[in-house]
Amino acid sequence: MANVALMGHVKNAVTIDDLKRMAHRRLPKFVIGYAEQGAGNGACATGNVDAFEGYNLVPRALAGQEPVDTSIQIFGRRYAQPFGISAVGVSGLYRRGADTLLAEAAREANIPFILSGSGAASIETVAKVAPDHTWYQLYPAKQARITNDFIDRAGNAGVEVLVITVDYPEPNRSEVAQRTGVSVGRGPTLRTFPSLAWNVAQHPGWLLDFIASGGTPELESWRNYAPKGAKPAEIFKVFNENWCGAFGWDEIERIRAVWPGKLVIKGILSAEDVPRAVAAGADAVTISNHGGNKLDRAIPSLQALAKICSEQRAAHDVLLFFDGGIRRGTDVLTAMAVGASFCFLGRSTLYGVAAGGAAGARRALEIMSEETRYALAMIGCRRAADICRDFLA
Ligand SMILES: Cc1cc2nc3c(=O)[nH]c(=O)nc-3n(C[C@H](O)[C@H](O)[C@H](O)COP(=O)(O)O)c2cc1C
Repeated sequence: MANVALMGHVKNAVTIDDLKRMAHRRLPKFVIGYAEQGAGNGACATGNVDAFEGYNLVPRALAGQEPVDTSIQIFGRRYAQPFGISAVGVSGLYRRGADTLLAEAAREANIPFILSGSGAASIETVAKVAPDHTWYQLYPAKQARITNDFIDRAGNAGVEVLVITVDYPEPNRSEVAQRTGVSVGRGPTLRTFPSLAWNVAQHPGWLLDFIASGGTPELESWRNYAPKGAKPAEIFKVFNENWCGAFGWDEIERIRAVWPGKLVIKGILSAEDVPRAVAAGADAVTISNHGGNKLDRAIPSLQALAKICSEQRAAHDVLLFFDGGIRRGTDVLTAMAVGASFCFLGRSTLYGVAAGGAAGARRALEIMSEETRYALAMIGCRRAADICRDFLA
């Protein structure tokens, strides 16, 4: 019953911010606070959104009657929109089954879905749900045999694009997690339990979903490397012990040598690193600061993109993807006018799926798609592929 009420609810959302408010109402503080604040004082997460305020689009008049074409061709596939869904780890905490719900929504909308290396659903499960739309985000493991196994599994599941996230050299030290005592795979401490329990009790929709689906979500892809019959918390332990954020360009080259598909390096912010990524064999780089989740004083993604595009050094044969702070169709067009070939959404679709499951994921994509189409028409650009700096004030 609660779900039916929610599904009607997300249909009424007009903007991504509406879905955000609905997600906030449904989720306890330790869950949504972790996703919202990002690193440190949260300046980078908000800075990503605020960076769009510094830009305006200049519409061209009398562009004719030809229907607007939002589609973009990337790596030989034509996607219906100039954006996809980015990797979000442990998404099952926000909504049980979030990975598969988002993958389904991506398949229906014909856009790519990146499954997180710390995703709750396995590569095999998600690739079955969205065989032509699943990309896999790899967190290289300390043991090369595990990294290689993930690469093999992605290839065997039919995944064509591997995304390596490179902006995470230290384990996350979220202040929200420190205050609530809850971090990935670890429950509350004795000290924080009373206030946490009170807050959770005030979010019964989330609590019922959490209990009914078996408590802490499992990192299904990592089950292969845990002892037989391991509980979700034990699988998290295996993940935490094997996770290796601090690696170098040699690891990219090593992975390039064994991965036959397309390779994306996600988490580049410096113009100096773009040619290095190309030299290491990347087919695309994603200009991203991990949604502001890693360092509060990191440069906003859009500012980094502008700087990289303005420097001649970036004139290499590499696709520039972008994420960070996109909440509207006009944000997508702005990032593309600045120089991105394709964009990704993190929180925008997370709000949707958290607020209303499958219907919420779908609604988030409908809002973004319609806003993008409308904005393209309004600036007099008939094809998303034609957007360029000339449309920037
Ligand atoms: C809660 C949360 C979890 C995330 N988990 C991952 C992850 O597992 N792997 C990854 O590469 N990026 C991860 N990201 C970063 C996103 O892929 C993306 O770069 C970022 O969310 C884009 O910014 P936006 O949320 O403002 O759109 C995460 C972001 C959030 C908000």
